[in-house]
Amino acid sequence: MRSLATALLRQMDPEKAHAWAILALRAGLAGRDTTPDDPRLAVPLFGRTVKNPIGIAAGFDKNAVALKGLAGLGFGYLEAGTVTPRPQPGNPRPRLFRLVEDRAVINRMGFNNGGIAAYVHRLAAFAPRPVPVGANLGINKEGADPERDYPAMLATVSPFADYVVINVSSPNTPGLRDLQGEARLASILAALPRERPPLFVKLAPDLSQAGLEAATDVAMSHGAAGIIVTNTTISRPPGLRSPLAREAGGLSGAPLAPLAREALRVVARRAAGRLTLIAAGGIATGADVLDRLRLGASAVQIYTAFAYAGPPLIPRIKRELLAALDAAKLADAASAIGTELH
Ligand SMILES: Cc1cc2nc3c(=O)[nH]c(=O)nc-3n(C[C@H](O)[C@H](O)[C@H](O)COP(=O)(O)O)c2cc1C
Repeated sequence: MRSLATALLRQMDPEKAHAWAILALRAGLAGRDTTPDDPRLAVPLFGRTVKNPIGIAAGFDKNAVALKGLAGLGFGYLEAGTVTPRPQPGNPRPRLFRLVEDRAVINRMGFNNGGIAAYVHRLAAFAPRPVPVGANLGINKEGADPERDYPAMLATVSPFADYVVINVSSPNTPGLRDLQGEARLASILAALPRERPPLFVKLAPDLSQAGLEAATDVAMSHGAAGIIVTNTTISRPPGLRSPLAREAGGLSGAPLAPLAREALRVVARRAAGRLTLIAAGGIATGADVLDRLRLGASAVQIYTAFAYAGPPLIPRIKRELLAALDAAKLADAASAIGTELH
């Protein structure tokens, strides 16, 4: 039944399919993963132990409306957002494209969301939280003042979030990615309140090695807990087969994996154990998860593979991860973290 629903959703316009998926999750109709997690999947994260290292990436539940349903699918933690100070409609449609041949997606949503006031209300109502929840913060397209907006939003969500993310890497808000530059990022992080949940900065895979290293240094010197590597890419890696590859926007899924993996390697080397790293970008299997853990990530996030495969993906990845740990003769996920960090 559920695989039929997933198959049907895949035939629909991608944005409509996403809206149906959110509705099904809200209504409790998307199913549940009732198998308790194997203790070998637990990882240290956000100052606690999280039952498994697999999170839903930002952008899936921008308005924090489907957290209960998502928690039921077996994610170890969730991220809601990106939310902006004021509600905004995002870019004109179509703005979401499935590159089926490439197991990829291009999106130029442009932070369509209902604004921080409604968002924080829902976050507060999601209590007690069955798994940790992070709040991913962005800025409006019009009238933004990052040094004012990020601190204000952070203060608003702090009581209700287990971690917060400063998103300076989405490609669909003009000027946003410029905030990843050393001086600007430092100025934004310096403006944030000191009393706060663990703070993460989310970076783009399109930064140069020097750019990634500089951003990592700024994160460390400003007391960030970690970095999320990476957001979508504005590049178009060679070999894409779908004609939709020409659409403007951020590319995610399988073709992003090599870029995101390399960015993780650069950041992990620079941080040398001083930051908690969360890997995102083209993760679709348990072997992918183990690979990113070995490169220095403490956890991962998934969007595109989940959009293609639906709820069964999460238990499948957990089974694959356990098998991959056995094959690598590793005791558990936690002891895999950073074993390939040179
Ligand atoms: C449709 C769509 C919307 C997204 N929206 C956001 C967003 O609002 N904020 C954000 O930080 N990342 C956003 N992302 C990026 C994802 O969180 C993730 O970093 C990226 O897609 C790479 O992971 P994946 O290859 O598993 O999809 C979005 C991605 C997609 C596909």
